Amino acid sequence: MKVKTLELINYRNYSHCKISFADGLNILTGQNAQGKTNLLESLVYLSLSRSYRMNEDAKLIQHEKEYGKISAIYEDESEKNIEAILYPHGKTLLYNHQLVKKSSEFIGLLNVILFSPDDLSIFQDAPRERRKLINQEITKISSKYLNSLNRYQNLLKNRNILLKEKQVDLNYLDTITEQMIEEASIIIQKRKQFIDQINELLTNYYQQLASEKANLKIKYLSCIEETANPKQALQELFQNNIQRDLETSVTNVGIHREDIRFELNDVDITEVASQGQKRMILLVFKLALLEYIEKNTNKKAILLLDDVLSELDDEKQRHLIEMIQNVEQCFITATKIPKIIQNQPYTHYYVDNGMITKMKEANDE
Ligand SMILES: Nc1ncnc2c1ncn2[C@@H]1O[C@H](COP(=O)(O)OP(=O)(O)OP(=O)(O)O)[C@@H](O)[C@H]1O
Ligand SMILES: [Mg+2]
Repeated sequence: MKVKTLELINYRNYSHCKISFADGLNILTGQNAQGKTNLLESLVYLSLSRSYRMNEDAKLIQHEKEYGKISAIYEDESEKNIEAILYPHGKTLLYNHQLVKKSSEFIGLLNVILFSPDDLSIFQDAPRERRKLINQEITKISSKYLNSLNRYQNLLKNRNILLKEKQVDLNYLDTITEQMIEEASIIIQKRKQFIDQINELLTNYYQQLASEKANLKIKYLSCIEETANPKQALQELFQNNIQRDLETSVTNVGIHREDIRFELNDVDITEVASQGQKRMILLVFKLALLEYIEKNTNKKAILLLDDVLSELDDEKQRHLIEMIQNVEQCFITATKIPKIIQNQPYTHYYVDNGMITKMKEANDE
């Protein structure tokens, strides 16, 4: 799929901009703090129905304005319109001018994958952030997953409230636990599928990008051992922990405590990888996500690379550009046109103080 036009009104430092984008490589250049990342962020907003940089929508609305709007026309088989209107206390999501009430029905309509240098903290962050990441990516291809996740979270909240009562109703506790196990087994299965599919690609991609003979994989740190019968394993898990849960008044085990770990040659990358290696690991993970989305939705996602090239050496830059040749549409931000791009077809946009201007079409000399 590809974004044909994007319109921003009162979004971050954009008062009003409307711009059409090209297939293939779109390079956005500009000085620092001019709005390059803001523009990518607006596309991510349309993909996820929220910002990846900010929890509060109110902060995305331009200072002193009452609302903000992001709208895009994108093409995936046919042309579609997608829109988010942000208010200080809420938002309205529209697809082809129709109101979309549930964000689970909105997420992933426009599918974008972003590489942002801010994401590099993901390896060191608390497990919650890595769970958020995998939840976000699986949700893009499966609304069933998000529904299970939401139901599980509600049940978990109720279970924890129950565990805090003076006299815990054990029958009710059982009922909630049973329902949680139903949802958890769906979630575990989807998480496993996701990790398996990504793992099929990671080593190969990493070797292409890094020119380094190393195996890269994601290890799923699940709450249960791998088994043909996850429900039974979950029942045993909850059963074995019920006493502890009652004593501590909280649910100690379950999919809300799971994690993933990136491993280079079977060693946790936080122990061995350099900054540059971490950057490449994150990049190949994002490239694998592109393929994962294509495989599961038959649609190519749009790739957004924020400030990626300046931190890679020349050889790695060349490898990256080779690896993204088949991407239908890609946005790359940089302070100036990277040398490596100069002999590629690309369309150049210049971003200056919340305004964007097309400078060169891909087929211009
Ligand atoms: N709600 C808002 N209203 C107005 N301006 C905002 C708002 N939020 C952020 N900005 C402005 O947007 C600018 C930052 O834009 P952005 O992060 O897109 O920069 P950039 O072009 O990516 O820069 P760099 O090259 O440094 O990454 C800042 O000057 C900031 O003040
Ligand atoms: Mg930026």
